[in-house]
Amino acid sequence: MHDRLAYSGKFMHRLGESKGNEMIYLDNAASTPVFTEVIHDYPAIMKSAFPNASALHQAGAEIRRKLEQASAEFMRTLNINQDGTKIIWTSGGTEANNLAIQGYAQSNNVSELSMVTSTTEHSSCYAPMKRLQNGSAHVSWAKVTPDGKIDLENFSAMLSKKTNLVSICHVQNETGATQELVMIRTLMDKYSPRAKLHVDSIQAFGKIDIPWDAARIDLLSLSSHKIHGPGGVGALVIRDAMVSLKPLIEGGGQQYNLRSGSLDAAGILGFTRAAQIATGKRSEFLNQTTTLNRRLRELLSSLHNRDRILTKVEINSPVDGSPYILNFSLPGYEAAVIMRMLGDQGIIVGTGSACSAESRNPSRILTAMGKNSKISFGAIRVSFGAYNTIGEIEELCSKLQSVLSEY
Ligand SMILES: Cc1ncc(COP(=O)(O)O)c(C=O)c1O
Repeated sequence: MHDRLAYSGKFMHRLGESKGNEMIYLDNAASTPVFTEVIHDYPAIMKSAFPNASALHQAGAEIRRKLEQASAEFMRTLNINQDGTKIIWTSGGTEANNLAIQGYAQSNNVSELSMVTSTTEHSSCYAPMKRLQNGSAHVSWAKVTPDGKIDLENFSAMLSKKTNLVSICHVQNETGATQELVMIRTLMDKYSPRAKLHVDSIQAFGKIDIPWDAARIDLLSLSSHKIHGPGGVGALVIRDAMVSLKPLIEGGGQQYNLRSGSLDAAGILGFTRAAQIATGKRSEFLNQTTTLNRRLRELLSSLHNRDRILTKVEINSPVDGSPYILNFSLPGYEAAVIMRMLGDQGIIVGTGSACSAESRNPSRILTAMGKNSKISFGAIRVSFGAYNTIGEIEELCSKLQSVLSEY
């Protein structure tokens, strides 16, 4: 059993500045608290994993051996057992996504680039795609349905024999909407048989199944701090030599010359340990999270405002999405204000994506799902991690009720 207390009470108190002496953390899609087991092992790892893995001496060779073992172990957590598959360690999910999209684009003649993606990608895919589109690449943006699923008819219409890359976010980070990757690959086989498939599984890894073989994923992006691993580490998994990429970071030629720079061995070993725990306990965590998600949906339906008039909570997350994310709107209330008021009471929730938190524009993702700006401005994201409890969800709703009465 995990040491929940360490996170839900004492630990969070040290982390935050809330007025009370406890903090309830419900913004796990932005970043997760590191697993206690990883924290426990980390000092010893840091003490021993400092030599440079590229150095020719024995100490460097020893780190190289440990990192090779870590890569093999990491592949096991993904159920990948095929020759030629490589892991490129990166600084996080953003770099992995950039390497996949820009690295692929740079290894091809730009005028021949024809890519298909969706309107609800994370900004670390959306921005490089936009940049390529503003160059001379051809980029098509598949629409999503009101529940955030890619509209497969619209997607099919965008595929052609010329399509060379399809890039899809597996679990959408604001809503939890989950894409049918096997169906996407089936359509690609029909209309774009040569196209490679890049999947951003950053919110899926360790939580739901990643159909690496069934969807023949060519490039897979992952991030450590979303699965209770240390921050500043990510990975791009590359199926085989048929997927050609150009490096975005050049230098000493490390990592098959695809990503130069000395490796953060301690971070990679910590990420691998977190991946082992998250995937080993995946069904336990999934069951627990499904229960929390159900309870939250139930409690949200009985919220009311000061005049005791029922506040119609609009749930923006689809029922069949990832249970780890529940996005809802309180129309007429500004999410940023609610978030601050809850924060004052020691409850941390998100408003859409952390990466666009500075933006005062309505959520691009909710807008793409057809939500109006009232809904998009009022959207709050609760995202669960391995340490959350039913008691915390009940506390959130009781505090949310008092916030609505004070608003
Ligand atoms: C779906 C998705 N892709 C990419 C990223 C970027 O990952 P990182 O924070 O590791 O750069 C995130 C982070 O929120 C995400 O949720």
